Amino acid sequence: MIIAIDGPAGVGKSTVAKLLAARLGFLYLDTGALYRAIAWKMLRETVSLTDHERVASLLQTTSVHMQFHNGSMQVLVDGVDVSGELRTPDVTSAASVISAVPAVRDWLLPVQRQIAQRGSVVAEGRDIGTKVFPTASVKFFLDADATVRAERRHRELVAAGHTGGIETTYQNLSGRDMRDRNRAIAPLVPAADARPIDTSQLNIEQVVDRMMAAVSAVS
Ligand code: DC
Repeated sequence: MIIAIDGPAGVGKSTVAKLLAARLGFLYLDTGALYRAIAWKMLRETVSLTDHERVASLLQTTSVHMQFHNGSMQVLVDGVDVSGELRTPDVTSAASVISAVPAVRDWLLPVQRQIAQRGSVVAEGRDIGTKVFPTASVKFFLDADATVRAERRHRELVAAGHTGGIETTYQNLSGRDMRDRNRAIAPLVPAADARPIDTSQLNIEQVVDRMMAAVSAVS
């Protein structure tokens, strides 16, 4: 069974997807981590993100794997665990840019589908319901006010030790939103059959409860 969750940055996708996966006993597939892994490699190899030919050629000698152990996930790039290095501001920004490159999206499509062959998954990203798993059993599209999302993301960053102001967080988030929603290939849009959930006024448990109710209704 595949459950698809899409939505913009800071909407709470990862948190609720992880909880939903734990409640259901499914794998949690964080597809953003795969884009981040490619971005990490391109930054390490100092490839210009606008040089699409070079990006595509480097992908031919790149491997990205996900491993799951007791609810936690590791991302391996060329056999090396880079999980701890994927959430830096540089990788975050590069992932947003690189995710608009068609060769990157094409390359990651089978990677994501192969992971879902290991068992039932809750998959989270931007194009899960529209492109990666269009026949998913249940699809959700989460959204929330941009200011609420920036506040949430800022709290996470502060907890992780970052010292930037909320204004910077808001600008970064809005920039990623613009790129993710307006790119030519696989833009962030709700699938026609996705269930919309506005999380602006809901807490995590309320969102997960709504999702559980929808999943129970189809299974
Ligand atoms: O969900 P995230 O913030 O970890 O995603 C990082 C970037 O990857 C995000 O800016 C957009 C891109 N992405 C995507 O284009 N498609 C996905 N399915 C997942 C992420």
